[in-house]
Parts: sequence; structure tokens; C-alpha cells
Amino acid sequence: MRTQVAIVGAGPAGLMLSHLLHLRGVESVVIDLRSRADIEETIKAGVLEQGTVDLMTRTGLGDRMQRDGFVHHGINLAFNGGIHRIDMHDLTGGRAVTVYAQHEVLKDLIAARLAAGGDLRFGISDTAVEGLDGDRPVVRFTHEGRREEIECDFVAGCDGSRTYTRFLIPEGEIRTDFFRQYPFAWFGILAEAPPSSDELIYAHSDRGFALISTRSPSVQRLYFQCDPEANPDDWSEAQIWDEIQQRVAGAGATIKTGTIFQKAILQFRSFVCEPMQYGRLFLAGDAAHTVPPTGAKGLNLAVADVHVLDRALGAFYEAKDTGLLESYSRTVLRRVWRAQHFSWWMTSMLHRFSGATDFDLRRQIAELEMVTGSSSAARTLAENYVGLPLT
Ligand code: DHB
Repeated sequence: MRTQVAIVGAGPAGLMLSHLLHLRGVESVVIDLRSRADIEETIKAGVLEQGTVDLMTRTGLGDRMQRDGFVHHGINLAFNGGIHRIDMHDLTGGRAVTVYAQHEVLKDLIAARLAAGGDLRFGISDTAVEGLDGDRPVVRFTHEGRREEIECDFVAGCDGSRTYTRFLIPEGEIRTDFFRQYPFAWFGILAEAPPSSDELIYAHSDRGFALISTRSPSVQRLYFQCDPEANPDDWSEAQIWDEIQQRVAGAGATIKTGTIFQKAILQFRSFVCEPMQYGRLFLAGDAAHTVPPTGAKGLNLAVADVHVLDRALGAFYEAKDTGLLESYSRTVLRRVWRAQHFSWWMTSMLHRFSGATDFDLRRQIAELEMVTGSSSAARTLAENYVGLPLT
């Protein structure tokens, strides 16, 4: 089998890349270890930056998002006994975020690729990539019991944080990994309940962080900071609601409760691998970088990476110009580190660190007061939250 771009991984990066390449007439094959049902049902975050929303709309993926998503013009920061709204729309000259779950984006992408006759192989195993330093790399894998081989011009490594492709870049002489682990995690729930707030609430409290998000008028998404070793089964529904309520009560918010139908622990890590390219291999999304969830940058960064990669591959196929491919890693890493800083900053400002003293708590409050009290500080948060424009 031959294709132009072999894409390893059918997550946001891989599927969006395949979609964008198709629109410019470049062929790809997408492979993934997981089943289609697994990909379409795994619950992740749900905040789309303005640039992600615009790209989806411009490329024909906007119908369900416009119908079922919710545009949010502001967010709330709860701390020190009050709730303070950041008006992102005003502060950024009319930009906003859209709350629309990641697995819904993936359903839209898969449907669009299949409708266009795209080649997606789910449930594959034993992936092996060879020949990255020549101009005819080969990707081998097993699909439906048969060993397959794809010869291609480029390999896109979009296989998420459990990546195989990242390790094809030799560590040490070429690849450097930057890593930070946080001493806490998030307990995330989905519940059948009415919204507790029109807009998201990021809450700082003595008991730790909580986040009140939403999915629809009848389904809510909530998170609270917990021990990374916490077991969701050890928490009853009543204990979960009580913990969330206590973390926002000081600021005057009241949580509307309901039946919890999904519970999960989300680990907190910051990770970047440099460079994101090696020979004919280009990494995109979580295969190359992970952010802690505060600020919901993961999917948006993946989309921003492939937006650049699509243009670089376009310049190669349309004009034999390799300049954008050569600068790919440098270009996308600037945004990756911007998002790393933003996610780390939001995390540090809002969470309770073990061993934190009263000094640390008061310093956090002072920072939150600056962010909500100074329009230039608020604008910095708003611009990063709604996302810098796609280059
Ligand atoms: C959601 C997740 C986030 O990490 C965040 O910062 C905001 C919202 C969500 O899943 O709704």
C-alpha cells in the first residue's frame, strides 16, 4: 500500500491532520490501536479555543458544534469569599470559547473522513516504523489478522501520551524530554443535573481547587483537586457533592446535585519533547507534549500543531518547498511553551500544594486579586484562555 502521509493515531491531532490534508488533495492513512467505539466514547475535556472553533467551522466540521456547543464569553474565579468574572469577550476584542466535548469533536472528524472516503484503520497492533532517514518511510502493522505495510513520504506521530512514535527520535543526541509531575490530581465527574452556573467557575479554597463546568442543560462536568492515589470507588455520591460544595461555598456558590454517572482521576503532568521532528517523522499533539488540565489546552494545542503541519506539507506538495517543514518544530514549540506556562500558571495560582503555608495561600489570593482587579492582568489571562490566533 502507498500513501503520501501515514498518520499514527486517530485522536484530535491525527484525525484533524487527515481532514486538513484531504481538503488540499493530499492522501493519508490513519491507524490506531483503539477501536472506533473506544475513541468516540472516551471522556476528555470540553473547552474549544476560538481558533479551534473557527478552523472546524471553516473546514465543514461546525454543524453539530454550532447546534450542541455552548459559547462562553467569560469565566469566573472564586476565591477569598467572592466570585469575580473575567469578561474574555470584552478583553480580547470579541473572542470566546465553546464548550463542546472532545469525543464529540472526534465523532465529527471520523464521520467527515469516512464520508470523504478516508482510510482509517482502527484496532491495529504491532506498529513498526522504518526508514525515517530516507524519503520512503514504511509503517507496518497488523489489522484484522493481516500484516500490512504502508509506504509513504511522511509519518505523522499523533499517537498521544502513550506514544510509540516519540521514541523513534533518538534520546540524548537528538531528543530532549522536559518533564514535571504535580503532587495532586483531579477527581472528575459527569452528572445528570442542571447547571450550577451560567459560566465556568474556577475555585480556589482552603480545601483545594474545584472547577464547575458543564456539558448541556441536563449534564454537568465538575472536578476537584484530589490525591493522585485516590480511588473513585472510595467516594460516595454524597461525599463528592459535599466536597465540591464546601470548596465553592465560601465564595457564595451553590451546587445543584444529581446522579453521578461517570467518575475518573486525571493525573497532572507537564511534558515537552524537543525537537518534534526527526527525518520524515513529525510529532503532533500529546505524543510530543502534555499539559495539566487547568485551562483545557490539550486538544487545542494538538489542533494548532496540525494546522501548522498541514500548511508545511501543503508547501512541500504544492511547491516542493521544504522551508515550513524544516521550521515546523521551532514554530509549534513556541506555542507549546506558551501553553505550558499558562497551564502551569493557572494550576499554581489555584491549587493547594502540600506543605503550603499561610504565606503561600495569601500570595495566591494576592495574585488572584491582581488578575481580577487589573484589566491588563485580566487581559493576559483572557487572551491565553481563549487561545492565541492560529498562525
Ligand atoms: C473542562 C476541563 C478543563 O480542564 C477546564 O480547564 C475547563 C473545562 C471541561 O472538561 O469542561
